[in-house]
Amino acid sequence: MAEYRLDPWGTAVRVEYEKLFKVFGIKPFSDLVPRVEKVLGDALHLMRRGVIFGHRDFDKILDAYERGERVALVTGFMPSGKFHFGHKMVADQIIYYQRKGFEVFVVLADAEAYAVRRLPRQEIIRIALEEYVANLIALGLEKKRLHLYFQTNYETPYYRLIQMFSRKVTLAEMEAIYGELEPAKIMAALTQAADILHPQLEYFGGFKHVVVPVGADQDPHIRLTRDIADRFENELGLRRPASTYHRFMTGLDGNKMSSSRPEYAIFLTDPPDVAARKLMRALTGGRATVEEQRRLGGEPEKCTVYEFYVYHLIPEDTELRRIYEKCRSGQLLCGECKRMAVERLKKWLEEHQKRLEKARDKIHEYVEPPKF
Ligand code: TRP
Ligand code: SF4
Repeated sequence: MAEYRLDPWGTAVRVEYEKLFKVFGIKPFSDLVPRVEKVLGDALHLMRRGVIFGHRDFDKILDAYERGERVALVTGFMPSGKFHFGHKMVADQIIYYQRKGFEVFVVLADAEAYAVRRLPRQEIIRIALEEYVANLIALGLEKKRLHLYFQTNYETPYYRLIQMFSRKVTLAEMEAIYGELEPAKIMAALTQAADILHPQLEYFGGFKHVVVPVGADQDPHIRLTRDIADRFENELGLRRPASTYHRFMTGLDGNKMSSSRPEYAIFLTDPPDVAARKLMRALTGGRATVEEQRRLGGEPEKCTVYEFYVYHLIPEDTELRRIYEKCRSGQLLCGECKRMAVERLKKWLEEHQKRLEKARDKIHEYVEPPKF
């Protein structure tokens, strides 16, 4: 089989989800949904709907939770652009787990953004605070059981871990995982391993089972981190983290949603009428003519508007199902469907942006920014 590699720093990733099961041994998440409902009380819509499609060892997190042991979530954001609906999906997961009693570690990957994205420090810090932290608070992140930090402004033992990790990885094995490397990427990978593993240290409150919810492109980091955990089991008592993987949101033109293509992403700070205009132009799964659509039905699987319903706009599964059926059977046409999506989106944004204004005053209660 030809080599298949994921690039966590790539901009135009096309993830072949099937390959992740076959080549890398990621397990389907759908098998676990009934157990999640039983153990955690309910499953997040992203779990029920297959947006979170894969995992490693997540069953062990459920076992630990059931036994009443300590559990934690670790995830992070690279503050390199505005906060869009793809990021909201990660926020929804963080807040879900926080409400279930998980301890939550959220890292603002400013070191990575500086080294790999090559943005100015002040710009990165501003984006992290005004875009990421403010939106997380507005979406419902609470201060309880929360550790929110910048990679460049944390506690000493975290940095010590990065240095210790460097001793037990070889360049060859890192190249096998990432392809061609440079110092900035090596630093970023070891830093991310420390992000994921430090919560288990005595210094950070002692052992807890860790799950890392990420986009599928981050799996190389997860594999490296799991290997590192094995090698430090004796010395530091580290255990392998579990992980879950979500699908990316599609941009409104059908390619990847990214802050660098603002016309095709919807930002949580977009004025509602701007967002509405973007969504009205979005790629749908509609047919070439009304006649054809009545006859053949639409294709919701290919539709970025439907994706917005699935990921964000329709909490009720039965209602979502109804839209799906009406689209497939040709009863619903794209014009009407888009107008409905736009109405919901505008209403959601208006409410969110009110919460965002209040959240802005609280940013510094949540996190301490680096001094330079
Ligand atoms: N590399 C991640 C990204 O590009 C950000 C990140 C840094 C992260 N540390 C992490 C994600 C730890 C999960 C866990 O978005
Ligand atoms: Fe998408 Fe709605 Fe058109 Fe179906 S009817 S293809 S869901 S916009």
